[in-house]
Amino acid sequence: MPEVILQARDLVKHYPIRRGILRTVQGHVKAVDGVNFDLHKGETLGVVGESGCGKSTLGRLLVRLEAPTSGTVEFEGADMANASGKELRALRRNIQIVFQDPYTSLNPRMTVGDIIGEPFEIHPEVVPKGGRRKRVQELLDLVGLNPEHINRYPHQFSGGQRQRIGIARGIALDPKVLICDEPVSALDVSVQAQVVNLMEKLQTELGLAYVFIAHDLSVVRHISDRVSVMYLGKMAELGHEEEVYERPTHPYTQALLSAVPVPDPTLRGKRQHIVLQGDVPSPANPPSGCRFHTRCWKAREKCKTDVPELILRPDGVGEHFSACHFAEPQVIVPTTDVSDVEPDERFAEVDHRDPATIAEAEGTLQDADGLRPETTTEAQANLFAPIQDDEGHPGRVPDERRDV
Ligand SMILES: Nc1ncnc2c1ncn2[C@@H]1O[C@H](COP(=O)(O)OP(=O)(O)OP(=O)(O)O)[C@@H](O)[C@H]1O
Ligand code: SF4
Ligand SMILES: [Mg+2]
Repeated sequence: MPEVILQARDLVKHYPIRRGILRTVQGHVKAVDGVNFDLHKGETLGVVGESGCGKSTLGRLLVRLEAPTSGTVEFEGADMANASGKELRALRRNIQIVFQDPYTSLNPRMTVGDIIGEPFEIHPEVVPKGGRRKRVQELLDLVGLNPEHINRYPHQFSGGQRQRIGIARGIALDPKVLICDEPVSALDVSVQAQVVNLMEKLQTELGLAYVFIAHDLSVVRHISDRVSVMYLGKMAELGHEEEVYERPTHPYTQALLSAVPVPDPTLRGKRQHIVLQGDVPSPANPPSGCRFHTRCWKAREKCKTDVPELILRPDGVGEHFSACHFAEPQVIVPTTDVSDVEPDERFAEVDHRDPATIAEAEGTLQDADGLRPETTTEAQANLFAPIQDDEGHPGRVPDERRDV
């Protein structure tokens, strides 16, 4: 196992709820409530969970955009969560973030060159002033955009191209960790695959480690080495992608997976259907004991009082982390391993060349505006194409998946 680069221990973020004229604190939203994990050099750790479970808050804590209520975030052994001043600035250079919405996360009044080069204002030591323009052009090229478009504004780019700008900015300081908060969720399905491919390419070339936050389990499995499942501010399960997707031991993971469309038509009828009762409880008043007990079909008395620890528990083959007193593996789909099923379009081999190279090969390097077009191979388009459920109806859209 490669060395640990980022480590979160007992990470907590509680937001005060203020009410009344005096704005007195009436309680707390427990957005992140005791999260532990290690991120290894060069790996991708996926984070999935329903809306409001604390994924974005966790992302912001990891880059220290917010200070935690308690707990630590260590980058190569140095505590970021409690650092300040010069020390924090130096540590921050190593951990950068890419946001979900490429439309609102880029300042419309700044040129692309200024947006990507902005981090150099805060960290002038990275690139001397005279070399910044050249460096920004190199970054544009690295993410598959035309370096000559350095003076254009965000509105002159498509959604996928804007996310490339966001990624170029994220890697400008040559960080070792990139936190990606739903980086492809706002993009058209045909463009999602290109951005995921770009991220995989950059990871290989730059040796980056990713924390990849998303609610789409298929995208997360595709890109992640390990996956963690969050529920109401805590991690329910954590393991290698194969362990979590094929031998989930936590009932919440099992329920989430039962709502994921199955790529292989011959396996669709064999999938377990688990329909959870009730809504996600409020993070301001989470259930006692196991937070999932109000919706869990396996809950017993112990679950109402004892908080289950996220520890290694047997999964039928080996063991991986699960926070359930009664963890046991349950196969939700006979196999979701793409190497075992008949080749299916949705999981067809992805072309890992960067879009510019593909465009060049296809002779479509630039459009009339001189912009490199968004190119998609058929396999790439299918990878994230709209899906069908067991009956051949269109698959659930992400928002509908939330109410599993
Ligand atoms: N600044 C804040 N002040 C108060 N509450 C907040 C703040 N930021 C987040 N929260 C609350 O914390 C909880 C977790 O929010 P968060 O945005 O981290 O969830 P998420 O998993 O990213 O959801 P989504 O999938 O919708 O992006 C939510 O209940 C949210 O309302
Ligand atoms: S600890 Fe109990 S309530 Fe929680 S997931 Fe396990 S069985 Fe369900
Ligand atoms: Mg979020």
